Amino acid sequence: MSGHGTPIPMTSRPCGPLKGEAHVPGDKSISHRSLILGAMAVGQTHITGLLEGEDVLDTAKAMRAFGATVINHGGGEWTVDGVGVGGFAEPEGVIDCGNSGTGVRLIMGAMATSPITATFTGDASLNGRPMGRVTDPLALFGTQAVGRKGGRLPMTLVGAADPVPVRYTVPVPSAQVKSAILLAGLNAPGQTVVIEKEATRDHTERMLAGFGATITVEETDEGRVITLTGQPELKPQTIVVPRDPSSAAFPVCAAIIIPGSDVLVPNIGLNPTRAGLFTTLQEMGADLTYENIREEGGEPVADLRAKFSPELKGIAVPPERAASMIDEYPVLSVVASFAKGVTDMQGVKELRVKESDRIDAMAKGLRAAGVTVEEGDDWWKVTGLGHGNVLGGVRVASVLDHRIAMAFMVMGMATQTPMTVDDGSPIATSFPIFEKLMGDLGAQLVRNSA
Ligand code: S3P
Repeated sequence: MSGHGTPIPMTSRPCGPLKGEAHVPGDKSISHRSLILGAMAVGQTHITGLLEGEDVLDTAKAMRAFGATVINHGGGEWTVDGVGVGGFAEPEGVIDCGNSGTGVRLIMGAMATSPITATFTGDASLNGRPMGRVTDPLALFGTQAVGRKGGRLPMTLVGAADPVPVRYTVPVPSAQVKSAILLAGLNAPGQTVVIEKEATRDHTERMLAGFGATITVEETDEGRVITLTGQPELKPQTIVVPRDPSSAAFPVCAAIIIPGSDVLVPNIGLNPTRAGLFTTLQEMGADLTYENIREEGGEPVADLRAKFSPELKGIAVPPERAASMIDEYPVLSVVASFAKGVTDMQGVKELRVKESDRIDAMAKGLRAAGVTVEEGDDWWKVTGLGHGNVLGGVRVASVLDHRIAMAFMVMGMATQTPMTVDDGSPIATSFPIFEKLMGDLGAQLVRNSA
């Protein structure tokens, strides 16, 4: 598991044009939800294109511990025989969610309204992240939680034996919190209502409807009001997981900053709650186009073509777009370093409580590589140096964060001298084929001895 084994230092050297097709893995958010909802359905759910990264594999293991039969048939094809809403068994051991905030928070929600007790833990990154944002609303259902100081893992949850439905306004823009409440609401009688002031990724809502739950979404002055009717029988589904736009971000951004590049990234899910980075890149002057736009499994999908973009300029990224590109700010800050002018990113406080404090981690590495970064609690600004002018030549910390590691590896492809991360092992949590895929396009990534 990443961060538990020997660190893998990794170096990225400046390289020639990236060319070819990049077949990125399945969407991480949809993969977690496919396993969890499959485990809560009655009958067999069939999944193809599942992301087989460590985060999702930990969720698969957890679903087995709660009593579902989860089988990997090879080649991204999985089946889940579910135990039904309210049918989770009490796990015998501790549930280790590794590096995954999505895994632990969604699973906490899924078990919170069953009369069972479960203890959760994770790696050093996950055990440092706030869980109160999930356990506070779960307490309203009647769930008890005891963890470390500040609501940190390891933590034990005692599920509510007689859950009551909940009406809750999510205080932070978080799809994980929203989803935990909805999954808990599945086994509460009556209607559970979640209100979010800012729209966050809506995969849980879409998939709950697909599994046969009664769920409505209304746009009101209060925000998005999501109403779920509890205690449905979820019907097993056949799920084709779209490819992950958050993983596509890496080859796309690399192509944009490396002279002569032309990369096609096929079959990318472009759900509007996820596609903010691509709009931002286009506003910066990136040569990024959508080809073959279509709909698959209720989600918009397209092939992305990214080419070297000589006239990149810094822009102000609208804060209301933040939720739709929250995982993409690290690699955006790399592109911003090669643009002309300032890229101003506001309303991004959530970046401070991800797998790492992502503003701090990127600011430290970018500054070491010669780029000016200013930051505040919920904003940061990167002053770009223009193509060919970013020094690089430093070893930076990935702080147990896959997206930090990959962002700096993309950066090293276009800096004057190589970039090294102290530990590339976290990349396996979300993008296990990253080195091979980027290498096949023409990147020069090497593992060093520690
Ligand atoms: C996710 C939600 C986001 C995102 C994470 C995946 C999800 O987290 O950063 O990578 O699948 O629901 P928050 O809910 O903390 O914003």
